[in-house]
Amino acid sequence: MRQKIVAGNWKMNKDIDEAMELVVSLEQYRHDFSQDVKVILAPPSLYLANLEMVEEPFFELSAQNCSHHDYGAFTGEISPAMLHSMNIGYCIVGHSERRQYYHETDEMIAKKIDACLRNHVRPIFCCGEMLEQRNGKHHFVTVLHQVEHALFHLKKDEMKQVVIAYEPVWAIGTGVTASSDQAEEMHGFIRDTLINHFGEELAAEIPILYGGSVNAQNSAELFACPNVDGGLVGGASLKAKDFAQIIVSAS
Ligand code: 13P
Repeated sequence: MRQKIVAGNWKMNKDIDEAMELVVSLEQYRHDFSQDVKVILAPPSLYLANLEMVEEPFFELSAQNCSHHDYGAFTGEISPAMLHSMNIGYCIVGHSERRQYYHETDEMIAKKIDACLRNHVRPIFCCGEMLEQRNGKHHFVTVLHQVEHALFHLKKDEMKQVVIAYEPVWAIGTGVTASSDQAEEMHGFIRDTLINHFGEELAAEIPILYGGSVNAQNSAELFACPNVDGGLVGGASLKAKDFAQIIVSAS
């Protein structure tokens, strides 16, 4: 059985008091959460150490970005080696906001994935097309290229550590969600792409999350799709009640 995952990408939101308050509020719902659903929180990196101190956490932690170097003179950067030294198990890599605003290329993203894997940090690799690409019917080829560039050079035991998040750019922060048919169609395509390259057994194990305007109203329908293994949630992960409902809907 594939692992179900609900991850909250807080992006650049909340001060430290609000961040800790959100964790305390979420904690109140923990008894509603199924053991079968892994909850991951991706706060701003500055707060990872604070969240890491929470006792008996119901969640695992992820960074939102990392360097592809391990150590050195790279002012402002944080490396997967450092994340691992802090027991941070995951890192989001290749988010469309990083591709768009920080000009991350497929080549950089592949290097970041390598850096995560050599430091025992599981990458949550993001892919997804822009609206023009979908309207031009280039969405499959776009996602295929992103997946090929980021993942096809990996060995099977490395690939096993990867979580994929399909996040159509037109659905991020817009309130426009992909329909469950659109999500399942693309997730099935990504799964087939993995089958062709890595084989059926391995492809069947890789969690593929959906991201893009997931909320407490639409999550159950999206997560019911056979190839949707949970979600990478932005805005709705900042509200305890909504995020808790989304977690529950994945079980
Ligand atoms: P929203 O849920 O706010 O659309 O953000 C999705 C996202 O980018 C998660 O990484």
